Amino acid sequence: MKEVLLSVLRNKNTGTADFRRASDQLAHLVSAETLAKLKTSVYGIETPVGTANGASGPDDVMFVPIVRAALSILPAFLDMVPAAPVAFLGIERDETTALPNIYYRKFPPTLPNRAVIIDPMLATGGSAMMAVDILVGQGLKLENIYFTGVVAAQFGLAALSEKMPQSNITVAAIDPDLNEQKYIVPGLGDYGDRYYGT
Ligand code: PRP
Ligand code: URA
Repeated sequence: MKEVLLSVLRNKNTGTADFRRASDQLAHLVSAETLAKLKTSVYGIETPVGTANGASGPDDVMFVPIVRAALSILPAFLDMVPAAPVAFLGIERDETTALPNIYYRKFPPTLPNRAVIIDPMLATGGSAMMAVDILVGQGLKLENIYFTGVVAAQFGLAALSEKMPQSNITVAAIDPDLNEQKYIVPGLGDYGDRYYGT
């Protein structure tokens, strides 16, 4: 199903409404894949005919969308873990250098021990790595930091994997190249622009 939805996103003729619908549906699949990696708490429950092991949570986790494109994926996570706090990082690539620039940050007053960085596009990896550095600076351990994306360039994925555990990274597709402007090739273009119709 991921491939079907990705095909809609990749097609340059897909308009805003269809792009949004496919993105929202895919967000549920990639968020579920990441959430499955987070330990839940076990407790005993009574069924009508016996006892069973129940699970609750995951607790002790915050979501960290990199504004703006990741705001499209965040609702899928909040659907599943509605009590989780959210930390916002506004990071935008400079259009000429493709280097990340942070223009906004807002953290909850008390930080959980685990964090999921959300960003649909991992190109050079610069934005995601800046987010990891910020979380480590806030005291989070690398093994408790997760990343969820939609399309990753091999280059960015390799760079991010050197910084944090590769098993904590979830993406729907890995693409081979980056072009001169550091856009993912074949990719899908600018995720934020296509999702928000700008
Ligand atoms: C995009 C994307 C990532 C970043 C990826 O954001 O959402 O944040 O680029 O590139 P990188 O791996 O080379 O850092 P963009 O800067 O276009 O901002 P936007 O979300 O506001 O569109
Ligand atoms: N950001 C995007 O939205 N797309 C790319 O291909 C690279 C960065």
